[in-house]
Amino acid sequence: MDIKSYYSRMNLPEPIVPALQAVRLLKGQTALVTGANSGIGRAIAIALGRAGANVIVNYVARPEDAEEVAAEIRSHGQGAMIVHADVSDEAQVQAMFAAAVREFGTIDILASNAGMERNAPFHEMSVAQWDAVMNVNLRGGFLCAREAVREFLRRGVRPEVSVAAGKIIFTSSVHEVIPWAGHVNYAASKGGLMLLMKSLAQEVAEKRIRVNSIAPGAIRTPINAAAWSTPEAYAEVEEIGRAAVWLASDGAYGVTGQAVVVDCGHLTMPGFNPAPSSP
Ligand code: BGC
Repeated sequence: MDIKSYYSRMNLPEPIVPALQAVRLLKGQTALVTGANSGIGRAIAIALGRAGANVIVNYVARPEDAEEVAAEIRSHGQGAMIVHADVSDEAQVQAMFAAAVREFGTIDILASNAGMERNAPFHEMSVAQWDAVMNVNLRGGFLCAREAVREFLRRGVRPEVSVAAGKIIFTSSVHEVIPWAGHVNYAASKGGLMLLMKSLAQEVAEKRIRVNSIAPGAIRTPINAAAWSTPEAYAEVEEIGRAAVWLASDGAYGVTGQAVVVDCGHLTMPGFNPAPSSP
C-alpha cells in the first residue's frame, strides 16, 4: 500500500512525500526492526527494505499489520519475515535473533525502535506504568542491542557489503534531552537510552560497530493521535525512514554515538515546551 493510501486509512492528513529515488545503499544486508508493524518502525522497515536490505519485521501484537509490512518489502524485491517477540523478554529476544540468523545468515543492522507511552501525573503514576515504559523503551533496547553486538562480533566485517561490522539505530526522542512533565517515565527512559547509546558507541567503536539514535519530535503516528489537530510542526514517518537508511549506510561511516534530531523544526519553535497532558 502506498504511503498516501496508508495515511488516508489512518485518518491522517495527506503527507508531503519528497520524490526521492530509492537507492539500494544496503544491498546484501539484513536489518532487524523492532515494533515494525506500525508508525515509525513500519516506516523504518519499509525504507530499509527499499534501500536493498532484507528485513525482519518484529511485532508484539497485530501480526496481520506486520505481514502487510513484510509483503510491501517483498514487493521491492527483498526478503522479509515477521517475528513475534516482546522486546523486554530476554528469551523471546534471543529466540527472535536466532530465527533471523537461521533465515538470513546474519544481521547487519538493528533498528531498535519499539517504544510506548503510559502517561500519568507523577503522584498518580503506578509502578505498572513506570515498569511498562522502562521495560520496553530501555530494557528492550538493551536486550536487542546486546544480541546484535554479539552477532556483529561473531561475524566481523564483511567488506563486500559494509566497512562496518554492524550498525545499531535506536529510536529515541527529543525528550531524551527535553524534560516532559506528565510523562516522567517516558522522558526518563529516553534519557537513559541516550547514554546507553553513547556509552555503547564508545565501547564498540574499535570493533567497527556504529551506534546512533534518531530523536524524532512530534511525528504523525498513532502514539500522539490526540495532538494531530494542533498547529504544531508534525514530521511524517518517512523522514525517520530516510534518516535510518543514511545512518545504516556506509555514507554515515564517520558517525557514531550521535542522536540525529528529525523534527521538521519543532525544536526551533519558541513555544516548544510541551505542557503536561492528562494521561
Ligand atoms: C512522543 C510524542 C511527542 C513528541 C514531541 C515523542 O517522543 O512520543 O508523543 O509528541 O515526542 O513532544
